[in-house]
Amino acid sequence: MPSDAQPVRIALSRRGYPGLEDAPRPDGAELVQPDEGASPDAAGLIELAADVDAVVISTPDRVGADFFAANPRVKVVALVAVGFDNVDLDAAREHGVVVTHTPGVLADATADLAFSLILMARRRLVPAVDAVRAGEWGAFDPQGYLGLDVAGATLGIVGYGDIGSAVGRRGTGFGMTVLQHSRSPRPEDGVAEAVGLDELLERSDVVSLNVPRTPETAGLIGARELDLLGPEGTLVSTARGGVVDEDALLAALREGRLHSAGLDVFAGEPITDPADPLLHEPRLVCLPHIGSATEETRAAMTGMALRNITAVLAGETAPNVVPPLRG
Ligand code: GLV
Repeated sequence: MPSDAQPVRIALSRRGYPGLEDAPRPDGAELVQPDEGASPDAAGLIELAADVDAVVISTPDRVGADFFAANPRVKVVALVAVGFDNVDLDAAREHGVVVTHTPGVLADATADLAFSLILMARRRLVPAVDAVRAGEWGAFDPQGYLGLDVAGATLGIVGYGDIGSAVGRRGTGFGMTVLQHSRSPRPEDGVAEAVGLDELLERSDVVSLNVPRTPETAGLIGARELDLLGPEGTLVSTARGGVVDEDALLAALREGRLHSAGLDVFAGEPITDPADPLLHEPRLVCLPHIGSATEETRAAMTGMALRNITAVLAGETAPNVVPPLRG
């Protein structure tokens, strides 16, 4: 509680954070929320956060140096997300603002989504669903909708943190051999063999990207890397847009140099142009950035964000301060 005993004020970047009613918050805290259905842009967020102590934001919200300069009362920015590439951390530090996120609680939901993409892409499920919906099931065709096996295939995980290792455990359950590559070496866990990135791409049939977006991971997977994965390869990403070169991905799929792909994250989000070529590539499955979108997971994330705020405003160390950026 501020020393002048004004009520604590917490701004939320949008309405409808699941679990908000049950989330802990400082006694008597006032919530400042945008109008129903509104999603403020960067300028709108600055305005919303005028005269508040803490701000709850999500992945699409951009918090830059101008935000911190305009809102000196803000002491904590709490992401309801694990990724934090949308916040200017240097500016936050300069203004003495703590930035927190929600690691761990969304690992299983996001790994489930990565696996959904693997199955959807490799088994070519989207064209199959579309055909059934359109009344085009037709006569049995021995060549119809043939995909590639998941069981027995090798799964390479790039970025073996909480989410990557959860993808690895699922791979083992599906009868896959699992490889992993991380910039900072991870201890052997009996699930995945640690290898270099090129070796991972060469040996894998399926690659899952689970790295954060950093200067080192921007454009990590381009034409050369896709060619190492090869024509029977499947690439999925639940990481961040910009880690995959989308033009190179489209070219590899069109030219048969890659079997299939699934993306939950894009360089430009949201994709609103129905003519966007990414949406029309038959071997590419596109989802609207929904890795953590389950009721339980989103409620756990909201609870974690509010616990972080409560700790900071009580003068304690927040449990989930963002770590220094790593590739
Ligand atoms: C979602 O993208 C997240 O970072 O939690």
